[in-house]
Amino acid sequence: MNSQQLARRMQRVRPSPTAAISDQVRELEAAGHPVINLGEGELDFSTPANISYAGINAIVQHQTKYTAVSGTRELKQAIAQKFSRDNQLNFAAHEIIAGSGAKQLIFNALLATLDAGQQVIIPAPYWVSYPDMVTLAEGEPVIVACHEQHGWKLQPQDLAAALTPTTRWVILNSPGNPTGAIYSAQELQALADVLSDHPQVLIMSDDIYEPLRYDNTPFSTFAQVAPHLAERTLTVNGVSKSHAMTGWRLGYAAGPAWLIGAMQILQSQSTSNPSSISQAAAVVALQQPAEFLVEWMAILERRRKQVLEMIATSNGLSATTPQGAFYIFANCNALIGRSTPEGTIIRDDKALASWLLQDAQVAVLHGSAFGTPGYLRMAYAIDDSMLDLACQRLKTSLAKL
Ligand SMILES: Cc1ncc(COP(=O)(O)O)c(C=O)c1O
Repeated sequence: MNSQQLARRMQRVRPSPTAAISDQVRELEAAGHPVINLGEGELDFSTPANISYAGINAIVQHQTKYTAVSGTRELKQAIAQKFSRDNQLNFAAHEIIAGSGAKQLIFNALLATLDAGQQVIIPAPYWVSYPDMVTLAEGEPVIVACHEQHGWKLQPQDLAAALTPTTRWVILNSPGNPTGAIYSAQELQALADVLSDHPQVLIMSDDIYEPLRYDNTPFSTFAQVAPHLAERTLTVNGVSKSHAMTGWRLGYAAGPAWLIGAMQILQSQSTSNPSSISQAAAVVALQQPAEFLVEWMAILERRRKQVLEMIATSNGLSATTPQGAFYIFANCNALIGRSTPEGTIIRDDKALASWLLQDAQVAVLHGSAFGTPGYLRMAYAIDDSMLDLACQRLKTSLAKL
């Protein structure tokens, strides 16, 4: 053993590709290259002012001490109200936990429940962190491919085929990252019908993009659609994407008391309560009607249209219209195998993303990072003029292939 030897578990985790691209962008910017980043998973909007002031007030009023590990009474009340108002779900305080972002809650839920080798079904394309979290918790990710022609949604027969006696979890994410796909109540019901026969399986519903939907697409969450499975469903949400509060690190989850209790024990021995200041701000965020969303969604819809138009008129790209979130998952298979003007063959989606970063100075993420090669994810929650420039640059570069 040498002094720099890391734990064996570190072999099971890769650095997040989204963080890696941001690092690359920062390096290029430092070297004087004006890169436009379409890789970032956050809104460019500011946190609504009254929510920020609630955070400032919390500081001024000395709400700067430890709180209960799973969140203050006020926050849990606001979370319970949110679930009741928006999702017709009723949770008691001991069935709710707040944490430092949805990410921490997902991680703790997996860590609290997975024994070595137990399987977690993850539909692909998936959010980049799910498989690594599962392997860190010694579980085994079982990736189930979903297809563009099915709107990127998990099909009941594919779920049925993937289930085994060692399946512990199925992770659902709607609206989804990276595709923006939204499951209808009927589609969730069909998955619930399959899961009814597998009593050992827990269901994680990651609803972090819940209010970011277009074209009046309705939202349903698993526990609401399948109340008979609510006893084994964990509903995860947060204010990061809904209220442009990624930096505040405040997420929440609700589910059966035994699971919430276990997540609380893990949290009590690792990070304790989420920031008291963020909790105070989240109370206001969850209590108030989200009137700002009308304007936000109008802006995002305009940007979605702009990127879709760019894709439709660019060499070698195509995309289905996403129903939610702020990503477009563009098919780039037609460009694989083509040659750049410098004579390099574009071998895969990763090579294409990296060439676009050099040639167009636009950062996008390769689909293989999300478990689906042959695609590029473009996040369009950036300033309008920069998005315009990014679209022009991408189109110009793609024309060279
Ligand atoms: C699908 C999905 N779930 C969870 C998260 C994490 O959210 P939070 O900022 O609350 O940790 C993200 C962030 O990108 C995400 O895309």
